[in-house]
Amino acid sequence: MRFATVLALSLALVFSSHRTLAANLILETGSNPATLSTSELLASPARQEIAIGNDVAYQRDMRFHAIPMKSLLSGVDQSRFDRLQAVALDGFVAQLPLSLLLDDRPDAPQAWLAIEPVDSPWPALPGKTVSAGPFYVVWMPADGVGGELWPYQVAELKAVASPTKRWPQLSPDPSLPADSPAWHGAEVFTTQCIACHKLNGGGGSDIGPDLNQPHNPYEYLQPDALRRLIRDSAALRHWPEQRMPAFPESSLSDGDLDALLAYLEQMLAQRKAEAAK
Ligand code: HEC
Repeated sequence: MRFATVLALSLALVFSSHRTLAANLILETGSNPATLSTSELLASPARQEIAIGNDVAYQRDMRFHAIPMKSLLSGVDQSRFDRLQAVALDGFVAQLPLSLLLDDRPDAPQAWLAIEPVDSPWPALPGKTVSAGPFYVVWMPADGVGGELWPYQVAELKAVASPTKRWPQLSPDPSLPADSPAWHGAEVFTTQCIACHKLNGGGGSDIGPDLNQPHNPYEYLQPDALRRLIRDSAALRHWPEQRMPAFPESSLSDGDLDALLAYLEQMLAQRKAEAAK
């Protein structure tokens, strides 16, 4: 190849990797999906410039052009839908509880859809070559809203039924007593873990391994090690491509962690009972 051709090709590559293309968000809150472009969203009268202190994805203070998530969700039928599924370009599939997104209490955190402007792209995420755009769900105030409720690089938002309705294999045995912690554990799993993990094949993401098939972590990890792995997997073992986030007490309380572990143990018992039939 001639030098000029090589130069032209490498310049083309440099420019294409730095240019942000106008993006579309697919939004489905009823039966008909809508496609909203970056410029349509930025032109919304509900748009504001917001400041997020210690942003979850950027790990520093950030400012965004954003619209309240509530303005996108007006009219969503909460008797049919329980979650807003956010599909990200990297395979992360968050299941945001509609009850949180639509919470009207004055002190409740409010969710916003941050929109990356085409003419002033956001910086790359720490340790990555890409930004959080084109769309990123952020919360104000941020305190106490777990990292898995901040999906970035969002391409699609869709109102869906509860995960246990969509994937019955995620459900604890219906004959369990109503006060069994496994019920609350299923809620925790389907909010905090399902963005990356399947269980019994149920769930929408393959970023992390299935947590009951073929084996449940209770079969190969000591309960104490499992607890530490969930709290901070990098403290237990570490490698550069590791993707499992830490779940400190601020995003997963001790009570929620106990319930989650009870759920995982229960799902192992159910799998064994099923296999013995
Ligand atoms: C952002 C994605 C993500 C989320 C959210 C997440 N995990 Fe993970 N998890 C991973 C990935 C990826 C791995 C594989 C190891 C790695 O790359 O860190 C993993 C590994 C694990 C393992 C070890 C499995 C093995 O055999 O090595 C366990 C147990 C686990 N996760 C449990 C959980 C639980 C419980 C939750 C919810 C509180 C959770 N994870 C939330 C991505 C995630």
